[in-house]
Amino acid sequence: MGMLFGNCMSLIANLYPLLKPWLFRMDAEKAHEWTTRMMRVAHGLGMLTAGQEKLPQMPVECLGLKFPNGLGLAAGMDKSASAVEAWAALGFGFVEVGTLTPRPQPGNPKPRLFRLPEHDALINRMGFNNPGIDAAVKRLARRKTKAVVGVNIGKNFDTPNERAVDDYLIGLRKAYPVADYVAVNISSPNTKGLRDLQAEDSIRALLSALKNEQSKLASEYGHQKPVLVKIAPDLDGQQIEALARVFNELSVDGVIATNTTISRESVAGHPLQKEAGGLSGAPVRDRSTLVIQALRMLLKEETPIIGVGGILCGQDALAKRQAGAQLVQVYSGLVFRGPALVHDVVRAIAEQG
Ligand SMILES: Cc1cc2nc3c(=O)[nH]c(=O)nc-3n(C[C@H](O)[C@H](O)[C@H](O)COP(=O)(O)O)c2cc1C
Repeated sequence: MGMLFGNCMSLIANLYPLLKPWLFRMDAEKAHEWTTRMMRVAHGLGMLTAGQEKLPQMPVECLGLKFPNGLGLAAGMDKSASAVEAWAALGFGFVEVGTLTPRPQPGNPKPRLFRLPEHDALINRMGFNNPGIDAAVKRLARRKTKAVVGVNIGKNFDTPNERAVDDYLIGLRKAYPVADYVAVNISSPNTKGLRDLQAEDSIRALLSALKNEQSKLASEYGHQKPVLVKIAPDLDGQQIEALARVFNELSVDGVIATNTTISRESVAGHPLQKEAGGLSGAPVRDRSTLVIQALRMLLKEETPIIGVGGILCGQDALAKRQAGAQLVQVYSGLVFRGPALVHDVVRAIAEQG
């Protein structure tokens, strides 16, 4: 039976290259919805689980948590926490859901997701389309999975930056009982002004409030849960230094580097380069690795980094680890490589030891 299921998993991984041309003719967001639905069906039929059992076991202790393996699904793929179990069954050691905002919101008008297959890249300006944090929390409360679940929180598009802290506090309080960790997203390029929260004074004020709330929640629930910050790749050396200073000062539990880039340098000349939004995939790989490297030198030794940006094969994941990341995440690579990427990365990490 296990053999049969194992074969199902490799069937799914082998099927993806055949499905891909068909999926890539479909509108990108529709293809995303379709594949998520199919994955839930496959999981419902028990076709994913044994694939995970075939993966090398390489648990990672980090952030005071035990991760079944060091590969996570990056935020944005499962914005509503609707398929956490299926992602875990596909082999991910952790799943970051969201970004979730206090109130549900539709996001930007469509089309808002574009593929640049020549560059293994995506441009998105989704704009935090999500069902609101309450809906996600309800789903997460019912989950049955060993995978670590992070809840990525943001602010509603119509909340002014001066009141952003209120939205993040709502997110933290609501996520706290169901999350293994909470990720504070201040780096999406698709919510006006959001990235300004990375300025030294703004981030200090925001994180002081969140760390304060975290302590209160820890006493209330009798359990301290880590709060991480997700940063942009489009920061110069001085900005990274300023951020690291604040992270050290406030003992932030971890940093996720990086989100998508607004730079179009590496896709210059592509017909879609002028589409507004964040660029992800191969073009952000090196920039994200450099940010991880810089952070590793600046952050306290005990502060873990989750490396994300342009991981398209096991080797890319190892480069992020070499730069100083304890854990890694993927999004775009899954679109271009399919489920085989999960196995490539987990195996590469296990082989490296
Ligand atoms: C369509 C799309 C939606 C995304 N939505 C979010 C989001 O809601 N919150 C977030 O923190 N990051 C979001 N991201 C960024 C990813 O989590 C990741 O940081 C980035 O894409 C770089 O990784 P990659 O090159 O593996 O895609 C999104 C990325 C894509 C492509």
